[in-house]
Amino acid sequence: MSQPKTEDFKPFNVELWKYDGHAGALIPLLQSAQNTYGYVSEKAIDHISHITGIPAAEIYGVVTFYAQFRTKPLGKNVVKICNGTACHVNGAKTVYDTVQDELQITYDETTDDGNFSLLSVACLGCCSLAPVITVNGETHGRLDSAKTRKVIREEKRRAGAVSKAVEE
Ligand code: FES
Repeated sequence: MSQPKTEDFKPFNVELWKYDGHAGALIPLLQSAQNTYGYVSEKAIDHISHITGIPAAEIYGVVTFYAQFRTKPLGKNVVKICNGTACHVNGAKTVYDTVQDELQITYDETTDDGNFSLLSVACLGCCSLAPVITVNGETHGRLDSAKTRKVIREEKRRAGAVSKAVEE
């Protein structure tokens, strides 16, 4: 297999330049790759391996060990459900059940059409609106099942994922 070209990885090469050979420095490199591309691809792993001399299999082991890293790209739309304490006690489970019913995916999954990914987060920083979700960074609060369904259906409609028959 040919080595990935360095110019393909410019955005996170900045972090690679800072690499000092310490094992702990691998995590910031992987975070940088994920922040740049949305996930840690095989190409990125090969590139990091090439630069650092750490075997790709070892890097892959680190990526799969830490829950913070993804090995697949996120969907076009990202739904985050807050599972912090305030949201938990105010109905995050009901919100999750509704989102799960609408999208047919669970946490850390992406719909088959690539339109939606679902993530769980600890606290979105707006606890007074609990329970809260964000869709592509936009906050929706004080949700119950009906409101959640409305939000997700609107996003599905925008994504073209709802058939005409359902809209009518
Ligand atoms: S606990 Fe959900 S926003 Fe803080």
